[in-house]
Amino acid sequence: MTVPSSGIEVVFTGLGGTEVVATRTSSPHPPRPHRVLVRTEAAGVAFAEVQMLRGRYPAQPRNPFVPGYDLVGEIVAVGPEVSGWRVGQRVAALPVTGAWAEHVELRDRDLVAAPEELDAADAVAVVLNGVTARQLLRAGNVRSGQTVLAHGVGGGVGILLAQLAVAAGLRVIGTASAHRHAALADLGMELIDHRTSDVRSRVAELAPGGVDAIFDPLGPTSLDESWRMLAPGGSLISYGSARTLHDPGPWWAPYLKIAGRIGRWELLRLLGRTGGRRARLYYVKSDEQFRADLAELFRMVGSGRLRPRIAGRFPLESAAQALDLHISGRETGRVVLVPGLSAE
Ligand SMILES: NC(=O)c1ccc[n+]([C@@H]2O[C@H](COP(=O)([O-])OP(=O)(O)OC[C@H]3O[C@@H](n4cnc5c(N)ncnc54)[C@H](OP(=O)(O)O)[C@@H]3O)[C@@H](O)[C@H]2O)c1
Repeated sequence: MTVPSSGIEVVFTGLGGTEVVATRTSSPHPPRPHRVLVRTEAAGVAFAEVQMLRGRYPAQPRNPFVPGYDLVGEIVAVGPEVSGWRVGQRVAALPVTGAWAEHVELRDRDLVAAPEELDAADAVAVVLNGVTARQLLRAGNVRSGQTVLAHGVGGGVGILLAQLAVAAGLRVIGTASAHRHAALADLGMELIDHRTSDVRSRVAELAPGGVDAIFDPLGPTSLDESWRMLAPGGSLISYGSARTLHDPGPWWAPYLKIAGRIGRWELLRLLGRTGGRRARLYYVKSDEQFRADLAELFRMVGSGRLRPRIAGRFPLESAAQALDLHISGRETGRVVLVPGLSAE
């Protein structure tokens, strides 16, 4: 068991754009009780880091901090009182922050075994995004043959949600910018360009009776429209507020509006006034269900039933470029940080 004397990590030094993204030397220490030290093989870039960069993340960390929601890596040291994990094992986890580092200390109870044969980038692409997609589909309470609307199917969560939904026998209507449609054409869904079309009237043409579930990561204004597109008995699952990234005012204001709308619809549902339509909030967390879902997603990737897309791989030193690529939306697929990769 060797604890490396130093490593590198990415740090967000303040709020703003990628000019506040820096790297610094870290000094890993022997893991504390019930913790392991992991050498990161791949860490994901997600919308959450963009929110953290702008100061719009719910539970915003204080600057400076090391970002990084999810990772896959190898255990290099095991702390006291850890059982069931050993040096050399490949694991995945969802630390929320801290994953954009060469070495990361993780709690043993948060670890999920990651198959050795998977490409590290493919594996990390399903940690935050895959589990979110799988749990959203479960929350949607839908069955084969029904129709769902998923917003942002060209994004990290959306592309996996669409694949899982199609595989479950659902008819999927997805929104994505037009430049992504060719890359998404083989996934078996019907696409709407949300930038140039009126999504509500297009959905009404495609599904005149409404849709059975809507997965909405866009926030309060979108939720109102989504609610009106639901078929009787349908489910609206709210899981983000992407449209409010650049809003002025406190980060929590849009979430208060989301909670208010969901609370009102739930009350109306209990009074029997929504035709069985229901609305729910979803938030991913690192718990037993997360670990079970991730293990199943790894099996799906291993057998080719789920195919993550990777838009780009960058070393930690190029985290700013990785974020730029993610924010630009030029490519469709997950941007991944790979420590030790040589810069292009
Ligand atoms: N609740 C949870 O636990 C949880 C977990 C993970 C992620 N999330 C949320 O899920 C969302 C996606 O995260 P991600 O990391 O997958 O993000 P991402 O890769 O950055 O993708 C975001 C997608 O949103 C789409 N989009 C932006 N504005 C839109 C609009 N007005 N109408 C339709 N689509 C729009 C973009 O589509 P185009 O580029 O095609 O226009 C883009 O593909 C975020 O809101 C995030 O906060 C929530």
